[in-house]
Order: sequence, then structure tokens, then C-alpha cells
Amino acid sequence: MKFGYFDDRNREYVITQPDTPLPWINYLGCQAYFGIISNTAGGYSFYRDARLRRITRYRYNNVPLDFGGRYIYLRDEESKQFWSPSWQPTRNDLKNYACRHGMGYTTIGSEYSGIEARTRYFVPLDENLEIWQLTVTNRRAARAHISAFASIEFCLWDAQDDATNFQRNFNTGQVEVEDGVIYHKTEYRERRDHFAWFACSEPGAGFDTQREAFLGRNRGWDRPATVEAGQLTNSIAHGWSPIGAHQVKIDLAPGETRQIVFALGYHENPKDQKFDPPGSQIINKKLVKPVIAKYLDASQADAAFERLRRYWDGLLGIFQVDTPDIHTNRMVNIWNAYQCMATFNMSRSASFYESGIGRGLGFRDSNQDLLGFVHMAPKRARERILDLAATQLPTGGAYHQYQPLTKRGNNDIGGGFNDDPHWLIVGVSAYLKETGDWSILDEPVPYDNEPGSEAPLYNHLQRSFRYTLERLGPHGLPLIGRADWNDCLNLNCFSDTPGQSFQTTTNKDGKVAESVFIAGLFVHAGRELAAIATHRGLNAEAASYRSEAAKMESVILEHGWDGEWFLRAYDDFGAKIGSKECEEGKIFIESNGFCVLAGIGLEDGKAAKAMEATRKHLATEHGIVVQQPAYSRYYLNLGEISSYPPGYKENAGIFCHVNPWIMIAETRLGHGDLAHDYYTRINPSAREEISDLHRCEPYVYAQMIAGKDAPSFGEAKNSWLTGTAAWNYYAIVQWILGVRASLDGLEIAPVIPKSWPGFTATRIFRGVTYKIAIERKGEGNRIALTMDGAPIEGNVVPPPTDGRKEVSIKGILS
Ligand code: GLC
Ligand code: GLC
Repeated sequence: MKFGYFDDRNREYVITQPDTPLPWINYLGCQAYFGIISNTAGGYSFYRDARLRRITRYRYNNVPLDFGGRYIYLRDEESKQFWSPSWQPTRNDLKNYACRHGMGYTTIGSEYSGIEARTRYFVPLDENLEIWQLTVTNRRAARAHISAFASIEFCLWDAQDDATNFQRNFNTGQVEVEDGVIYHKTEYRERRDHFAWFACSEPGAGFDTQREAFLGRNRGWDRPATVEAGQLTNSIAHGWSPIGAHQVKIDLAPGETRQIVFALGYHENPKDQKFDPPGSQIINKKLVKPVIAKYLDASQADAAFERLRRYWDGLLGIFQVDTPDIHTNRMVNIWNAYQCMATFNMSRSASFYESGIGRGLGFRDSNQDLLGFVHMAPKRARERILDLAATQLPTGGAYHQYQPLTKRGNNDIGGGFNDDPHWLIVGVSAYLKETGDWSILDEPVPYDNEPGSEAPLYNHLQRSFRYTLERLGPHGLPLIGRADWNDCLNLNCFSDTPGQSFQTTTNKDGKVAESVFIAGLFVHAGRELAAIATHRGLNAEAASYRSEAAKMESVILEHGWDGEWFLRAYDDFGAKIGSKECEEGKIFIESNGFCVLAGIGLEDGKAAKAMEATRKHLATEHGIVVQQPAYSRYYLNLGEISSYPPGYKENAGIFCHVNPWIMIAETRLGHGDLAHDYYTRINPSAREEISDLHRCEPYVYAQMIAGKDAPSFGEAKNSWLTGTAAWNYYAIVQWILGVRASLDGLEIAPVIPKSWPGFTATRIFRGVTYKIAIERKGEGNRIALTMDGAPIEGNVVPPPTDGRKEVSIKGILS
């Protein structure tokens, strides 16, 4: 069952039924001002940091789940009926409801009692505001007299405090209303220099800023007393809950259309110019007024929207592909790339599953996210890498997370996740391959943000690598620390106290438990680092990285091999995890995926065996589960993984983040059919038809799909903010389609299904447009390449040296 359809030409997903199984959302904004918007206009906005600069209030895990947002109400002055064109919060029986989620904007509209209304929500580039363009059309034969109400509830900035500290917060709320613009200024009188504003393009018929005045006593957003009565009350909030509500009256002849622009924004004043007149308590509005005036002009709003469209044309135009598979095309060309931008901007902070108050930016997550967006935003990737590296600890270890506003490592969680440092190497390597910008390695970057500790970024990579060499366990495998990629495999935790954090509780000295996954990652990162060192002319150093990687490879083959697959780890007792000897958790995806991805066991058949075992024991029709058999009870020595009921999350759920490791591993074995088959199993577009089972959005990946041990096998959760976005993009583009950035140029090595006659693609790489056409002439993966007709030796297309800005690459697969 579907709840909408893809409109690929407009790069939109069109939801045609408002009661989707879960809120199906989109992101507004891509620089500093952000919003989350659901298909029924639920959601909220914030400036840079979803916790510390929350602009509008949102109640997570509400009943119904998604309630509160950017709500517009229409009221028919004659019949006195009122409704919301976005369905929520009034839930009328609407005609022609459609929500179009597009690239950085969402349009929601419908028809009710002959009145058509559509609102386009977006954030203009380079501005700290959002625009709601409401278009109302009278489809009746008679004149219509309509009142339009637009409403939002302000958050008192710190979302955590806002949701808990009522003894204070019910007293602090303050607003101003001037020339019809509502200004929210709670705490502006003291240490804040910022305020929010909510404005309307038309002369208002009324406003409200106190929630209770707007809603009426004991009422909710579904039936505001003022909307019901048809008149706002011009309330001024003191304490309690400041809101913004505007009322506009519109008279429409039959067939007539009117547009109203509402705009909500954030503004910071210079500290010494906060008040006007100086010495008063009144907000100085001189700087913000021109911005407000500009965007209340519908033609300016339209122009800003066009700019946003062109911005996305540019970003998505960097890689476009045409294959025989519509789901591949759609995800690669539109949605997966788009999701990568969202994960870059949000990391794991704000979605409908991440409350925006918990996690900052993860060190390992943000580095992996680079794989998916570095080609779209290399400058921002550069900045992100330097920020991440600046939180690295002098030991080479890393804070697990940092807060984007302060850019400081998060002390509550701390470090000791022993895979973390290697992801910096992976991220920097991806950046170098894409951009060829070697200067980044010479950037001075501090450790732990300590002034005076600056060292070239390259030094950070060296320490990352050494970190593991200084932390090897009894078998010579890397010690796992608090956890590796699998946050829930907590082998040094042994927690028996309810509520303790599995990630920060450490009861063991950490000298025994080892990770085969980190070992595989170390081999991979070591080879990447060796290639970087070679490029810098550091041949001896490169050789030492290669030899350390080779040494680790033999340790893995000796102590990390279980006979038919790679082991996962050794626990604090030195016992195996992910072995046929185990009662549960005999085989895991991560070590098998990453070891093969790193090339381990390709020569002696172990890689092929491991992938065969993965297919046999872990693959399901809905994707590949983390491990089998699922843990049926809590294991003190394993930690959080066994806290989840079987089939969910890390306990044998289908973690879509790691499925691509298997896809890439299969391409390394030359298995294009299987790689693409795995790709398709979790491809959200390919799952659109089973939206009633899948439940999450069919246009973006979710972190997890319930595994076969769960009663809801096939049900997705936690959509949008997941490493799944970057890794799937990377797997399909760089390994299955095989168009990949390398240090020496664009490499082309497709491992595609046998049934594909080929594909075409356009790739803009280091300023050159490559028009690529791959044609299959045989069943294998051997490729013969030409550039503008001239044969190329090998797989790497060297950048043209004669100034050609566009070249044609032909590849014959045989
Ligand atoms: C989540 C975390 C990520 C971790 C994964 C597996 O996606 O954000 O850091 O690797 O879970 O536990
Ligand atoms: C990761 C995991 C999740 C776990 C969390 C703990 O995000 O995906 O299962 O609860 O880490 O911080």
C-alpha cells in the first residue's frame, strides 16, 4: 500500500493521504536556520543548534505522535466552519490533500468547502528566516469571505530547559508587537542578544501572543476558541506561553486567488545596539526591519524560491545517472543525495526520532557522513573536518561527540570508543580524493581545542593510526574500549544497575576485550593513510603503515577467523563473540563486511566464504540483520546489545548503515547482481509499495528495519539521520556504479548486475564534466575505457591536462 507517489521530474514526493503511518517529514534550510516539517505541517524551527536555539516549541512523543507546528486555519465567515488545509490540527475531511516534499521546501494544500488553499514553506538561502506562502483560491460560484489564521508557539530558546523548568519559565515570556509584527524576546532583557519575529504581508485583522488567549481555556490546537469565534484578541504575553498568531481577512470573488506571505525569523543584534532607544527595554528593530519587509513581498519570496531551486540543481547536478533501475536513479539523483545533505547539517541531532536536545555531532558519524556529501559541499566538508579534528584528544583518541554551537567535545560522554580515530582518516581521505586539496593536511589544528597545541592536520591522522597500535589486546587485535562502531557492544561495561548509561559506565580495565571490526577498519584506514603518505613523498612512513596493516591482516586471519566467517570480538573473559562456539550471536555483519571491504581474505577464499555465510545466516528479504541468533536475554558481559528485544536495533535488527559494507564487499568479489540485490532490499523507493509495513518515508533511508526475530519484521524506524544515507550513496555510486573519486583522478570500475546493458552518468569532478557511457558486451567486470576516443590504460581517468572542461568517457564491460 502507498500513501503517495514520486514526482521525479519535480524532485518531489507527493503524499496524497494525510494519515501516513508515521509523520513523513522534510527539512527546511541548509545553512544556519533550520526547520523540520511533517506532511501535516507539524514540526519546529531552530537556529544552528536544535537544543540551545530552539525558535518554536515542539512536544516530542505527543499524542497523536505529531502535534504542534506551523498551523494555518481558515474560517468561512458565513458558515462559521473552520479547518486546516494541512489536515492537522483540525483533521477535517479534505479534498485533494497533497503534501509535496521537495528539495528544501514543502508545499501542503487541499480543498475544503470550495476553498482551495496551499502553503509553500521554505527557508531562503543565506537568510535566518522561513517563508510560508499561502495561496487561497475560491472555487465556489459565489463570493467567499474567509479569515486566515497563522500560528506558532515559541520555545524559550533552550529546548531542554523549556521542556522541564516550568517554575521559572512560566514567568519569563515576553513579546513586543509593532506594526503588526510579533517579536518574541524572552530573556532578551538580560543575556540574550537574539529574538524571533513572526510577520504577515497583509494588514492584520488581529493577533495573539498569549497561548491561552488564542486557544481558550482547556482547549488545544485542534479547536482554538478565537478561530472558532472568528476573532483574535490582540493579547500580549507576560510569562506563560508566548505564541504568534495572525489573522487576515480575505474576500474572494469566484475563481479569485490571493496570496498571503507569513514569515518567521531569527535575528541577532550587536550587543551594544540591543535597545532602541538606548537605555530602554525595547528591541532595536532597525537591522531586522528591512529583512522582514523584503520577504513579505511575494515577488521577493518567489525569487528566493527560484534561487533555492537553482541551488539544488547545482548540487544534484554534480552526479546524475541513468540506469535501467528507476529506484537506483531516483535515490542517487535525488533523494539519497538530499538525505546526505540533511545528515551533514543535522548529524544525529534533530529529526522526529532525535529530539534535538540529546546528541551533538558524533565524531565517527560526522566523519562517515563526509562520504556522502563531500562532492556537494567540499568547502563545508573542509570546515567540518577541521572542527572534528580540533576535538581530537592528544592521545589520538576522540570525544565521541561535540556540540556544534561551541565546537567543544562533550565531557558527559567523553571518549574511549576505540574505532573513532580511524574515521578521521577515512573522512580526510574521502576529502582528498574528491578535491585534491592537499593543503588541508598542513592546516594547524589544536588537540582538544587547547590553544597552543596546534599541529598540522596530518599529525592528527598519524596519531589516529598510532592510537590503535598503542592499544592492542592479548591476541594482537585492537582493544575495543567502550564500544566500536556498534555502540551497543559494551564489553567493558558489566552494568547491573537500571538506568546506567551503557556507553559511559566502565567497570573493567579494558585490557582484554578486542574488536575484529576495529582491526578491519585499522587495515582499511592504514592503507588509505599509506596512499596519502606516498602522495606526500613520505615513502618510508607509507611503508610502515602498509606493514602495520599487513601485520594486522595476518592477526585477523589467525585470531579473527572462525572457519566460515570473521569473528566479531573477544569479550573481557577472552571468550569469542560471533563464533559458531557461541550459543547466540554466532555471526555478525560488521566484522565480515568491513574485513572484506578492506580486502582481507580476498586471496585465500576467506572473503568469499564470509560473504557466503552472511548471505546464508544474515540476509533476509528486508535487508541484512546485524547478527544471528538474536540475544534472547540480557548478557552482563555484552552490554546494551542484549538490552534490545530480539530483532530490534543492534540486537539482530536490519541496520541499514552497515548493509552497504556487504554491498561493497560483494563488489570486491565481483558480484554485481548480489550487491545490487542487497542495495534494492533496503532502498526506500523500492519499498514504497509496502509503505504500510515499512511505515517510514519511502524517499529516505531509516536507520533500522526490524529484523526477522521481531514481530514487526520489515518495519522501519528512525528515518533520516543515519550513516545509512552516506554509506548507501557511497556503495551504489562508487562501488556498484563504480564511479569513484581517487587520489589520482576519477576511477571507473562498475560492478553492476549482469542484466544491465549499461548506464550513462554525468560527473563533475575537480572542475571537469565527465560524460560517462558504460556499455555491457560481456558478463564480467573487466572494463576498457576511452576518453574522447583515446584509450585509457587501467581504470583511472587522469584529469585532462589541456584545459578540456568536458570529456566523454566510454567504457566497455566484458
Ligand atoms: C547509531 C550511531 C552510530 C553507531 C550505530 C551503531 O547509528 O549514531 O554512531 O555506529 O548507531 O551502534
Ligand atoms: C546508537 C545506537 C542505539 C543506542 C545508542 C546509545 O545510537 O544505535 O541503539 O541506544 O547508540 O547511545
